Amino acid sequence: MNNFKQIKLTLRFIKFERFLGSLFYSYQRDWWERQFGNPRTSEPCQEPGKLLQVEPTKRGGRFYFEQAELELCFLSSDLVQVDWKPGIPPIPYGIAHHNWSEVETKLEETASGWVVSSTALKVVITEKGSLKLQNSDGKTLREELPPQRQGEAWTHRAKLRDEEHIYGLGERAASLDLRRPKSEAQRIKSYRMWHYDAGGRYSSGSDPLYLCIPVYLGLHREGSYLVFYENTYSGNVNFSDVAEAYFEGGALRYYLTAGKPAQMLENYTDLTGRSPLPPRWVFGYHQSRWGYETEEAVRETAQGFQTYDLPLSAIHLDIDCKDDFRSFTIDPDRFPKLREFNQELAAKGVRLIAIVNPGVKGDGNSKLFEEGRAQDVFCTYPNGEIVLAPVWPGMCAFPDFTNPLARHWWSRQYEYLLDLGITGFWHDMNEPGVFTLWGDATLPRPTQHSLEGRGGTHVEAHNVYGLLQAQAGYEALCEYQPEKRPFIVSRSGWAGLQRYAWTWTGDVETSWKGLRQTLPTILGMGLSGIPYTGPDIGGFKGNPSDELYLRWFQMACFLTFCRTHSANNVKPRTPWSYGETVLNIVREFLRLRYRLIPYFYTLAWEATQTGHPPIRPLFWSNVDDERLWGVEDAFFLGDALLVCPIVKKGARSRNAILPKGHWYNFWDDTLIEGGREINLEAPLEQIPLLVKAGSILPMEEGQQLILHLYTTVQGTSEGCLYSDAGDGYGKWRGDRFRLGKGENGLELIWEEQGEYCFPYQNIQLHLHGFKPQQAWVDGKEVAVQGNQVVCTRFRQVRFQG
Ligand code: GLC
Repeated sequence: MNNFKQIKLTLRFIKFERFLGSLFYSYQRDWWERQFGNPRTSEPCQEPGKLLQVEPTKRGGRFYFEQAELELCFLSSDLVQVDWKPGIPPIPYGIAHHNWSEVETKLEETASGWVVSSTALKVVITEKGSLKLQNSDGKTLREELPPQRQGEAWTHRAKLRDEEHIYGLGERAASLDLRRPKSEAQRIKSYRMWHYDAGGRYSSGSDPLYLCIPVYLGLHREGSYLVFYENTYSGNVNFSDVAEAYFEGGALRYYLTAGKPAQMLENYTDLTGRSPLPPRWVFGYHQSRWGYETEEAVRETAQGFQTYDLPLSAIHLDIDCKDDFRSFTIDPDRFPKLREFNQELAAKGVRLIAIVNPGVKGDGNSKLFEEGRAQDVFCTYPNGEIVLAPVWPGMCAFPDFTNPLARHWWSRQYEYLLDLGITGFWHDMNEPGVFTLWGDATLPRPTQHSLEGRGGTHVEAHNVYGLLQAQAGYEALCEYQPEKRPFIVSRSGWAGLQRYAWTWTGDVETSWKGLRQTLPTILGMGLSGIPYTGPDIGGFKGNPSDELYLRWFQMACFLTFCRTHSANNVKPRTPWSYGETVLNIVREFLRLRYRLIPYFYTLAWEATQTGHPPIRPLFWSNVDDERLWGVEDAFFLGDALLVCPIVKKGARSRNAILPKGHWYNFWDDTLIEGGREINLEAPLEQIPLLVKAGSILPMEEGQQLILHLYTTVQGTSEGCLYSDAGDGYGKWRGDRFRLGKGENGLELIWEEQGEYCFPYQNIQLHLHGFKPQQAWVDGKEVAVQGNQVVCTRFRQVRFQG
């Protein structure tokens, strides 16, 4: 038998084995779920009843109702924890901040009810348990109805105003405003809180996806608020004239904050944690494909990038690199010299990222399985048997990441791949996703979990499974390579995932609809505290046309995670697979992205300080402009860049609603007045890209820093630059540049902070909107060429027009 035939037969056999496994498992899951009943209970719905007693506490107050207990606790002046009991209290997996400094609060009885207040917020509690959140001006931001409990489940409703827009809930294939679908396809009524493997292809309207987070932002004319439910149970959230959240169990604990989006994200990430600074190289381009089956195939791909003069920072190895698809293995025949190969790639500036799936093949030949079984770290059925469910390698056991011992055991497995020179990890199938022929494609609901020793079922643990795998991975990387910053990209997660990993938007459909969906999904994630994400450029399954691939690529160049990835049954997808025209345009965009890395990196540093996502909706700093509330086909990259991708077939121009202020067209420097809708040109080789007047945009080319000074009529502009060694935890520096009106012209001032040596040999100052005739660097006249001045370090530069 020739090799080809043998491979085909093996593949058929694997498919058949998987089919049988899925059939068997689907029956088994149903059987167990039947034994443990349906959660919907016939018990009556209970409201808290009458308020009986009120007690002041250090940070707020405790309210005893007939049927429930409420505790209001100000963690800071503009962040309140609201805790309704009874119910099993949550394990604080999502929470990063536990010791809050003192905050002054007041508890008083007024005509409208009891009021707990800080200097910034007020919560009014009525006799029956409804709550009002007000700001310090007395404006009501949110009105909650008394919660209802039925059996173990909670339902919580809050009134919504007519004009109110809602954003968040983690990763959603919906419109940005979750209440107002932009298209028929996005018409989702109820958003499920249950991570789900969208199974190879999803598009607008698929719900849920891989990463649900029960956090949302409400924006209306009186102001805006954010609510985060710290409840990991299976649930639903839907929006009509009320916002209704339903959780199958647990206590009803949630957090409220208010203010501008930036301030709310600061508070939310203060609570759930901020992303650590990633290594700088991750802002480069990543190439991936399910189907790089041999070292040679990867080598050829890396070589192609060199041949076609395209920058490349990482290649991702999908399950093809594994031995029989098993976790933490490398196929010795197809990747025989991985260590040397890694060195060869490293010399070209390319790192390898390896996939890691949580399922551990459950057979006696697997050392990992035997070890895990001996240490009792796998999820079990209520009768103590290990749950086995089919994934790529066949029937697999699933580490119980809610068990600290299992996390530790898992974290020890990364060492092998790190030793081979693997730089980062790609956590997939960690909803966890399994193969089924019908019903829910995950572990059975009665699956037993440790939940830090207190015990519980998958109904509570499912939504934190990927988060805790990410924690284990992150801790492993910190331990084994303490001199390097971890890089993990995880498909699933929950509130707090940002502390450990990046994510990507999974198996989005290859279509214009898929491309259009990408942006609202990513913007919604940013507003849910997840700053780093990106799509499979071109979509996962299918062959994008030249135009679709190109438009997807152009958009992704301005997103934080820029990676092409595709399924194994599609045509090769590299920039040179599409002919000369596309190749040349992609090259230009990639070069632009690499020139923008100082800007990306500075935004990443800002995100460590503030939790602000680098990718922001247009209303981010313009909440008063209602026309921007629903814009989901344009975004801000930081404060300076406004990106208007092309998401429609054949479009060579598009309309964009510009926020107030002045905007420079990045491509030709025309100055455009904002606060209106305009039409922008978008030939194939460009997408509309605008720069906010008043920005100083740092870019680099080799050893040169290029500061683009986009002036305003008032002459003032500002910008920052963060630099360090790009990895590790050594010295850093922050450079702040301020341009202002000076004697007969403009004056640029440089303030520096930190000890890292300035990393550029020279600096090009490029003025936009101002034509300098003469320039002086620290008092010494220098040559002006066009709009540019080249200099080295300075304190002050004067420009005369
Ligand atoms: C899942 C992932 C996809 C990956 C594939 C094979 O579908 O979402 O990115 O290529 O599994 O590992």
